[in-house]
Amino acid sequence: MRIVQVPLGSRSYAIKVGGGLLARLGAECAQLKLGQRCAVITDSNVGNHFAKTAMKSLAASGFEPVLISVPAGEKSKRIAVVEKCYDQLAAHRLERKSFVVALGGGVVGDLAGFVAATYLRGIPFVQVPTTLLAQVDSSVGGKTGVNLKAGKNLVGAFYQPQLVLCDLDALKTLPKREYISGLAEVVKYGVIYDAILFAQIERDLPELLQRDASTLQSVIARCCEIKADVVGQDETESGLRAILNFGHTIGHAIENSFGYGKFLHGEAIAIGQVAAAKLSHKILGLPSGDVGRIEKLFVRAGLPVKIKLDSARRKKLFAAMKLDKKVSAGEVKFVLAEKLGKVVWGQKVSPVLIEEVLGSLQ
Ligand SMILES: NC(=O)c1ccc[n+]([C@@H]2O[C@H](COP(=O)([O-])OP(=O)(O)OC[C@H]3O[C@@H](n4cnc5c(N)ncnc54)[C@H](O)[C@@H]3O)[C@@H](O)[C@H]2O)c1
Ligand SMILES: [Zn+2]
Repeated sequence: MRIVQVPLGSRSYAIKVGGGLLARLGAECAQLKLGQRCAVITDSNVGNHFAKTAMKSLAASGFEPVLISVPAGEKSKRIAVVEKCYDQLAAHRLERKSFVVALGGGVVGDLAGFVAATYLRGIPFVQVPTTLLAQVDSSVGGKTGVNLKAGKNLVGAFYQPQLVLCDLDALKTLPKREYISGLAEVVKYGVIYDAILFAQIERDLPELLQRDASTLQSVIARCCEIKADVVGQDETESGLRAILNFGHTIGHAIENSFGYGKFLHGEAIAIGQVAAAKLSHKILGLPSGDVGRIEKLFVRAGLPVKIKLDSARRKKLFAAMKLDKKVSAGEVKFVLAEKLGKVVWGQKVSPVLIEEVLGSLQ
């Protein structure tokens, strides 16, 4: 097992990465000195695979868990579902020292985290992420929240968990497309922060695609270290934390303009990262060899790097980019790479250049 600390003063916590951790959930929670009553929030898919183990482990350590299952999918990230969760917490008489366990992917983590952040003005919570994306990204850093009809993640809170347990065994049941989508975030950490990690991913990609436990442990722990380092310096995204959005300006616009569901998040940001790399070449002189390495790695992983855009779609995509939360005063800002492992944020890019790069992705 590897342990990564997230350094946030009195709100610091550990991320544990290893096999068989779900069965140890109760024992791990016992060390946190929390109340007896707790709620495990999960979704219909994840619950089928793992709820029994989680509930059994908590009960064996003397906790009284209640299971709350929500329908799988992004549609559960909404206020109506939050309210249903509150009602079940209240019915089970959860109190100030009680806690919530988020057992699932990013949807469950964001939802359960927001429930924990707001029920009784905040009760402790523990993340047990079960997708690759959730293990390297959404479970770490304390962003919680739900969607509105007007857009994604528009309601939420910064609220840190007390512990994150990344059980590598949970990834075994993850559908292949979801798993590969998560790899796009893994590659991102190499590009933005760590050229050695990038080279490791290039070298160990076959093992990663086979979900080899020891390779996963080292790569996931490194990604968490990087996220912890960034979040530790800029918890609420006033600066540095923006680098985690590399590839996301165009990626989010792709998800948005094609309608959520056509592209998985990781697929959209793989294309977005290739676009950002090409912009980086034009603006910051990122060597074309490095652009090629990024593109090739995504192709080898089975991720898309090209996208067909007719003129109507391109218009929609530009409109979506301007609506992005990262836009300030109408300027679209990008995270761009100077070299592999080193990026800068807040880069203004002219629409003409964006058009040109999108054109080259056809
Ligand atoms: N809070 C953050 O910092 C942050 C960062 C990135 C993304 N997010 C959010 O995360 C969400 C996406 O998360 P996601 O990609 O994990 O999606 P998800 O939670 O919807 O999970 C994807 C699918 O896999 C299933 N699943 C999960 N774990 C499984 C397992 N081990 N075995 C079998 N099936 C499993 C789920 O039921 C679901 O159908 C989005 O809502 C996004 O906004 C949040
Ligand atoms: Zn992302």
